[in-house]
Amino acid sequence: MKKLLMMVGASMLTFTSAMSAAKDIIVQPGNLIQDSVRLAEPGDRILVEPGIYHESIYIDKSNITLKGIQRDGNYAVIDGKNKLNDGIITSGHFSVIDGFKVRGYKGNAIMTQGANNFQIINNVVEGAFYGIFPQYGKNGLLKGNTISGAEDAGIYVGMSDNIDVIENVAFANVMGLEFENCRTALMADNEVYNNSTGIALTLIPGLPVKDARHLVIRDNIIRDNNHVNFAPPSSIAAQIPQGLGILVVGPDEVTIENNIIEDNDAAGIAVFDMLTFGLVRDSEVDPFSDVIRVMKNQWKNNGNNPVSLFAELLGPAGKGFEIVATGKEKDSCILQQDGVDSIGTRRWSGCDAAMSVANFETAMLPEPVESEEYSAEQKGRLTYLAVCTGCHAYNTVLHGPSVSSIKAMYANKPDALAAYASEPVRKRHDFPEMPPQAYLGEETLSAIARYILNDL
Ligand code: HEC
Repeated sequence: MKKLLMMVGASMLTFTSAMSAAKDIIVQPGNLIQDSVRLAEPGDRILVEPGIYHESIYIDKSNITLKGIQRDGNYAVIDGKNKLNDGIITSGHFSVIDGFKVRGYKGNAIMTQGANNFQIINNVVEGAFYGIFPQYGKNGLLKGNTISGAEDAGIYVGMSDNIDVIENVAFANVMGLEFENCRTALMADNEVYNNSTGIALTLIPGLPVKDARHLVIRDNIIRDNNHVNFAPPSSIAAQIPQGLGILVVGPDEVTIENNIIEDNDAAGIAVFDMLTFGLVRDSEVDPFSDVIRVMKNQWKNNGNNPVSLFAELLGPAGKGFEIVATGKEKDSCILQQDGVDSIGTRRWSGCDAAMSVANFETAMLPEPVESEEYSAEQKGRLTYLAVCTGCHAYNTVLHGPSVSSIKAMYANKPDALAAYASEPVRKRHDFPEMPPQAYLGEETLSAIARYILNDL
């Protein structure tokens, strides 16, 4: 890990020395952080003084560090007042987002979209739909964050590879931590409690990434995940069971080792195939979870009070199972000495001690991945996905009108579309107001408008 960070540091140096000298930009309360982002050049650090900032921040440059200064226990607080959709979104590679308190956003508190070699560290996130949500990235570190109140997942790593999620605390979310359609990723030394489900490892159909594998879950504390599921009923997260320590639906090669798994009322670990879990079939996706290895965990009092989904599934006698599996998993195993009560694992064998992941230190690559800068077209697509789809679905009304109706209204008028998104005016009185998207900048808004009208 240390070696890795030094290498990242060194390559950033060579990167910045080729340009003008990197500088620190200080942001004081009363000013907009986004104004400093506009001034910043690759290699710069934006240091934000303690205080409260009401804005959405969007970074589309690489190698920018955004750091909240903490003084006497006071944070730089980014506050959406439950009106704004997104807190901090970056599509820049080598982004660092460090030390903020982010609260009151309706969509994403902190999101990366298509960014590689990023770090999201030491932040406190309170209340959001997705807490910390890196999507479509490679080589990322999420460390030392505390996340609560997310209506979906506290940390939601989507379609990403080579990611470390370590030493975070997630509580009172629908899901504490989630890897969705991820390859090669580590969760270690996290504390996950009082969520509906503590940790979710999923493979979701219909997404561009068609597999999920090589996930290591070790040395976490996973306890008391019995929170009532408070996801909006129409969302996919509403299907997440209450009372579960770890849910596995779809991924292969998952090793769960040396965790403390306690007092989860439905089960300690549940392994489902995608179809039993109620997901639709995707012809390019293997719905079964194979090669699941459960080794040397510490178990106590799981499965003793299943409700709803699990109560139905297991029936009146179905209590007290630490592991619940559908029995369709190939090449899966439990280390014999665990001696756990389980159902559905008759075909699982005993794990070989040599399969231990105790020494698996990091899923990140020894060197940063090569990353091209995005073209205007790519930026338009990424930002549309990151920002606009939070409220606009293609064919149905989400929070705003459908994208297909927007396409019809603005055919051949990308400038007008971009101008509306920049400074929306109230039109439909049965809809909420659309928050202004001017922070994205004219160039990106124009790319989004062209993407919507020409490519979608
Ligand atoms: C927080 C939710 C939210 C986000 C994020 C959002 N919108 Fe909207 N949008 C709305 C709502 C609500 C309306 C309806 C507003 C009204 O009619 O008063 C709307 C309406 C629109 C319209 C219709 C304008 C018209 O003339 O009727 C366009 C175009 C639009 N949005 C584009 C975008 C684009 C582009 C993005 C991304 C950059 C975006 N929106 C992000 C909520 C949102």
